[in-house]
Amino acid sequence: MKRGFGTNFHTVYKNNADLYDVFSSSEIFSDKLTNRVRELFHGDILLDVACGTCHKTNLFSKYFKKAYALDISESLLSYARDKYKKNNKINYLLSSASKIPLLDNSVDTIFISWGSFPLSKTLKEMNRVLVPGGVIIRIGIEGRDNFTELFPNLDLKRVKRIQKKFESFGFFREDYTVDIKFDSIKQAQYILSRILGVNKKLVTSNSFINNVVLLYYKKQ
Ligand SMILES: C[S@@+](CC[C@H](N)C(=O)[O-])C[C@H]1O[C@@H](n2cnc3c(N)ncnc32)[C@H](O)[C@@H]1O
Repeated sequence: MKRGFGTNFHTVYKNNADLYDVFSSSEIFSDKLTNRVRELFHGDILLDVACGTCHKTNLFSKYFKKAYALDISESLLSYARDKYKKNNKINYLLSSASKIPLLDNSVDTIFISWGSFPLSKTLKEMNRVLVPGGVIIRIGIEGRDNFTELFPNLDLKRVKRIQKKFESFGFFREDYTVDIKFDSIKQAQYILSRILGVNKKLVTSNSFINNVVLLYYKKQ
């Protein structure tokens, strides 16, 4: 089934968590973006919504006392559980983002990257579990760039509609870049064709610059 970016993501989540993990781990935030995200972090408890294989949950958990990693995919979470078994800060939540199994006012920072979920319900749920003064940080693609132009089915209207929805909820917007770096062109061709349905012939580099939008919200 083609959803989200119009891709094979969901088949890969189910059957090839390892492939998805290579894709997720190929993302390197610019120093500017990393510093900004760290500046926005609030408090001791992190919730990574739609965490996938927890590449970012693991990276960011060092700035918190406890991290919750929530995802609807059992296979991605079990891959992460095994990969990060030494990280005892991470607590895994197999759940939809639209029904977060946490108490009201119990999370200080919510992080989302490349997340997909029912937006209106999830925004309400995130706001419920967030403490007053808490923050939600969302990173998503900006639009067309030398990475996303490879996607055969990117729905730009949907991308913009989602950004607008966050903004109308009270999110502020800033623009940054993320480097996508694979070990080799061959690896880039393999991963991008399997996950995004990219035509291998179009992949002539192992690195890309992805323009991203950081959206953040502070609960009053
Ligand atoms: C593109 S991945 C992003 C994963 C991770 N945040 C990253 O940066 O690599 C999108 C994730 O959303 C998850 N997802 C899709 N629908 C969801 C829902 N309703 N609730 C929670 N997670 C969901 C998928 O299982 C997948 O892990």
